This record gives sequence, structure tokens and C-alpha cells, in this order.
Amino acid sequence: MLDTLNTLEATALDELELANTSQAIANWNWKYFGSKRSKGAVDDAMRQLGTLPGEERKAFGKRANEVKQALTAAFVAREHLVKQADLEAQMSAGSLDVTLPGKPVSRGRLHPSSQNLRRISNVFAQMGFEVYRSPDVETDEMNFGLLNIAPEHPARDMWDTFYTNTPGVILRTHTSPGQIRSMREFGHGGTKPIRMILPGMCYRYEQVTARSEMQFNQVEGIAVGKNITLADLKGAMSEFARRMFGGNGKIRFRSSYFPFTEPSVEVDVFLGLDSERNKMLTKGTGWLEISGAGMIHPTVLRNGGYDPAVWSGFAFGMGPERVAMRLHGINDIRSFWSNDLRFLEQF
Ligand code: DAH
Repeated sequence: MLDTLNTLEATALDELELANTSQAIANWNWKYFGSKRSKGAVDDAMRQLGTLPGEERKAFGKRANEVKQALTAAFVAREHLVKQADLEAQMSAGSLDVTLPGKPVSRGRLHPSSQNLRRISNVFAQMGFEVYRSPDVETDEMNFGLLNIAPEHPARDMWDTFYTNTPGVILRTHTSPGQIRSMREFGHGGTKPIRMILPGMCYRYEQVTARSEMQFNQVEGIAVGKNITLADLKGAMSEFARRMFGGNGKIRFRSSYFPFTEPSVEVDVFLGLDSERNKMLTKGTGWLEISGAGMIHPTVLRNGGYDPAVWSGFAFGMGPERVAMRLHGINDIRSFWSNDLRFLEQF
């Protein structure tokens, strides 16, 4: 009878030796030790115990226990080995090398134009200007009419306009309509002084060159109060240049014409002529125009709700991209919107 047990043990060990995968090991275990629902071969052998006579039973029982223990021990050892091998196979096949450096996460940042607008806004905020935004899509009336530019006025040629399908609705060609909106909204019916800047995008149906884009930012400025003179405008612009460009922020005022200011000026910042870039940007003059400006026309003040006999004010419309070009030595205004990472990543 003991032969049965010896054969069982030998066969089981041989088979275990051949089981190379977790699945094969599990099958082996199921075959010899069974599961909750079915008996395995070891249990079957044990069951023969009851059919044996006295002294044989004792020897059989002892041997059966030995076999059971030997097989259990062999199983545990084999299972450990196979699991280890499985893991190693998975590691090399799955090529997960935890020591490899990770892929760098590229972080976003503010567009140079936005950084620049914030910087300009900060300078004016320090000088007591509030920051206000007015809409990009404007009415013809706001963009032109209320700024003293009648429908057939030849000065309209100064702004090549993008029209929409809705009659009387356009993309603003400058931030100046914000003058009317801020006077009406914050002037309390022409009774309170205001001092604000209005940064934002403008659109012009224009030839794109190194100096001018068809989409660009402007920073409109407006100050309305009693006894405001051209000297205040000059003071504000000079102080802005000093804070923005430092000691070498030399600027000049040139007389000009705009329908909504009287008198009108243009403000230039000095670049010099010592490089080809400067010659090109300044059209050979050494000066780069950064802003239109002037004393607000009485008609415009009236349209904003103020009595021009009592109130006066100055306004300006600055090109912040031009300011940034001066500040960072940027050659071409088109760089701002061409989405070239080599440019953008420098800021
Ligand atoms: N809006 C003018 C332009 O885009 C610039 C300008 C000139 C704005 C004079 C002003 C100003 O506020 O007073 O050409």
C-alpha cells in the first residue's frame, strides 16, 4: 500500500518540477490538494486509510503525512521561484526602467505681450491711473462718430477698418472709443475727474510690416479734470518713459493731427542710429513713435458728458508692442503673433 504513496509523491514532485508558470503551479495545487469544492489526489489517497487493517494503517498514516508535508513544502518553494521568474520576465519584457529620467513637463507662461501690458499697467497704476477694459467689438458711432470723426470725414482714411455683417458694428481700430465709455461710465455725468488707462487689442485692415501688424495692442490713457494742461500730458509721458526705460528713456513730442484732440502730438522714444535695425525701425530718424496724444477735443469731452468750459483733459494712445521692441531690442513686430517658440521662450 505504501507504494501508492511513494508513486504519488514521485509523480507529484516530477510534475511540480515541470510547472513553469503561475497558472501551471495553480493547476498542480488544484490537482493534488483540491479546492473547497473538490478533493485532490492527496485526500483521495488518505481516504484509503479507513479500508486498511490495524498495523498497516499506522504505517500508511505516518507515510501519508510525510508525503503531504513534503509536497506542501515543495509547492511553497516552487511557487516562490516561479513568481520571482514571472516578475523578472515582466520587468524585462515591459521595459519599465524606473531609473530613466522622466519627460520634462513644459510649463506655460504669459505671452510677452501680456507681460508687457502688465508692466505698462503697473507703471501707470503707480502714477494714479485706474485700469479699465472696453470691448473689442465696437459700434461705428463709438469708434468714429463720438470721437469727432463724421462718416464722410477724410480722417477716416487713417484707420482701415474691419467691418462685420451687422451694419454699424466693427472691430475697433483703436482703443480711443474707450475714452467715451470711461467718461460716461466713471465721470458721474461730467461731475467727477477720471484718470485711467485702457489696454486692449485693436484691428486694422492693413499691410503687415516689421513696424505694423493688423492686430496689435494699444494702451489708451485718459485724464479729465479741472486745469489739466498740455504740460500735464508732457509730464505724464516723460515720467512714464523714465519709469519704463530708465535714465536713457529720452522722448520727444512732435505736433500732429487727430480729430479727437486739439492740439495733437505724437510721442517718440529715442533709439539712435547706431545699428541697421535702428535705422530700419526709425525710418532713418533715430526716433520710434510710441504714442499719439493730445488735449481732448471739446466735442469729445461733451460727448463724454463733460462741460468743456469747466473741464479739460489729455489723452494718449500708446503702442505697447513698440514699447516692448524698444525695451527688449525686438526687430520685428510680427514676432509677437507668429507663435514661434524660439521667440516666445525668451520671455
Ligand atoms: N487712436 C489713435 C490711433 O490709433 C491714437 C491716439 C492719438 C490716441 C491721440 C489718443 C490721442 O488718445 O489723444 O491712431
